[in-house]
Amino acid sequence: MHAAAIVAAAGSGSRLGADRPKALVPLAGRPLVCWAVDGLLAGGVTDVVVTVPPAERDAFAAALPAGVRLVDGGATRTASVRAGLAAAGPDADAVLVHDAARPLTPPDVVARVLAALATGARAVVPVLPVVDTTVVVDDDGVVADAVPRARLRRVQTPQGFDRATLVAAYAALDDAAELTDDAAVVRAAGIPVSTVPGDERAAKVTVPHDLTLAELQVAR
Ligand code: CTP
Ligand code: MG
Repeated sequence: MHAAAIVAAAGSGSRLGADRPKALVPLAGRPLVCWAVDGLLAGGVTDVVVTVPPAERDAFAAALPAGVRLVDGGATRTASVRAGLAAAGPDADAVLVHDAARPLTPPDVVARVLAALATGARAVVPVLPVVDTTVVVDDDGVVADAVPRARLRRVQTPQGFDRATLVAAYAALDDAAELTDDAAVVRAAGIPVSTVPGDERAAKVTVPHDLTLAELQVAR
């Protein structure tokens, strides 16, 4: 199986509040996007396309290995992945979509996603259980209901797809649609999405505390 990956890295990182786009923020001295690309390659991906903020293309080119292709991202994650997908060659039969904001995703997670695709899944996501009591609140913030959590899952990336399935699902999606992940795009097209075990180390860097945790993780 020939697997390509799209790394969504075109966001600004407004919640992190750094002095540069989040994907270029250093973790142990190396930009987050470099860690994310390393994990994909170590897990079995052969081609990588990174979607970048157009104004920062040179900085990404300087940070990433020569074989990595850069594509201008869009105003939303959905638009960025759409642009990356157009560049993720037709020679790939599988496409993984990953967040640069998950720099320490273990290669084993990548390998589990690829293995599920190799055995016939058309779409697969890494997931983790919900461990906290989870509730619904009303408009005043008062608890209205508790949610049974046994079947709830937190969804991570990389998410893997049969390439033709993902291309068709994006083609069928309204141009203005904005979904938080790619599994939602294929589900909107009626395709079942399988799951494999995720990993806490694949946590997303969203706020400054997440970067502190990531620094501790690499220092171990
Ligand atoms: N992303 C992207 N294009 C966008 C917006 C987001 O490629 N227009 C990417 C980000 O670079 C990130 C991933 O999607 O790797 C997940 O998004 P998120 O964690 O929300 O990152 P940002 O949008 O950059 O952060 P924020 O929402 O805090 O501004
Ligand atoms: Mg965002």
